[in-house]
Amino acid sequence: MKTTVTVLCENTAGVGQGIIGEHGLSLLIERGEDRVLFDTGQGMSLIRNASLLGKDLTRVDRVALSHGHYDHTGGLADFLDTSRQATVFAHPDVFTERFARFDGPAGPRTRSIGIPFTREELEQKGARFDLSPALREIASGMTFTGEIPRPQGWKAWDKRLVVRDGDGWRPDPFRDDASLLLETDRGAVLLLGCAHAGLHAIVKHLRTETGLDRFHAIMGGTHLGAGTRTDWEKALSLLESCRVEKIAASHCTGFQAASFLACRLGDRVCPATAGMTFEF
Ligand SMILES: [Fe+2]
Ligand SMILES: [Fe+2]
Repeated sequence: MKTTVTVLCENTAGVGQGIIGEHGLSLLIERGEDRVLFDTGQGMSLIRNASLLGKDLTRVDRVALSHGHYDHTGGLADFLDTSRQATVFAHPDVFTERFARFDGPAGPRTRSIGIPFTREELEQKGARFDLSPALREIASGMTFTGEIPRPQGWKAWDKRLVVRDGDGWRPDPFRDDASLLLETDRGAVLLLGCAHAGLHAIVKHLRTETGLDRFHAIMGGTHLGAGTRTDWEKALSLLESCRVEKIAASHCTGFQAASFLACRLGDRVCPATAGMTFEF
């Protein structure tokens, strides 16, 4: 059965009259009667883009949240206003308060970047939360990875992203970072939110849990933009070892890391801008 993945929200807008971009990610998966939303963007483009693309969000009854950042969860309230009710799959830490710390001209600045709603607010709008760290099937052939075990010595790449630690801060451990695996007619398709757990840890977890050793496609944010050139080289080796045929690295991948992959992997790398549709 054909699986269609449509990019409803992404940092850049592609061809399509009136489609807008925003820093964020939302992918709509359609297969048979199933409609699943993977992330919701930050809330400015989801409803508008879905409408312009002819995607009926009232038919979506399941949402999987990759993690609790505002740019993946901020569209949830508007989505619920449209759909009225939906099961929302996520890790229990998705509601953790989280922040970005930047050096500004007048010293460090701190900005809240967590989910911009309380659980109660969303439940009043019809959300039914299924919060668990477990790997689980959320629709036929769609597996939510749950919490990704980290290798020994794991450290978050992006030191700007923090959680409270007493009166201070510590790097966000991103225990809630999760991905969505689709079994399609063309093979396994891995959808990433920001891959804060790291591409290697995510792939290793799936290899352990499912026995998969190759992926037809990988789509979404890789957070490679916050990594070093060495990290990019390691990601390249991993993608080659998994024999990935289509790499639509978007969102937090960043221009330079995406360009690096495109230079090395040629037309296996493609953009995935808001408005684009992929069929598997
Ligand atoms: Fe993100
Ligand atoms: Fe993120």
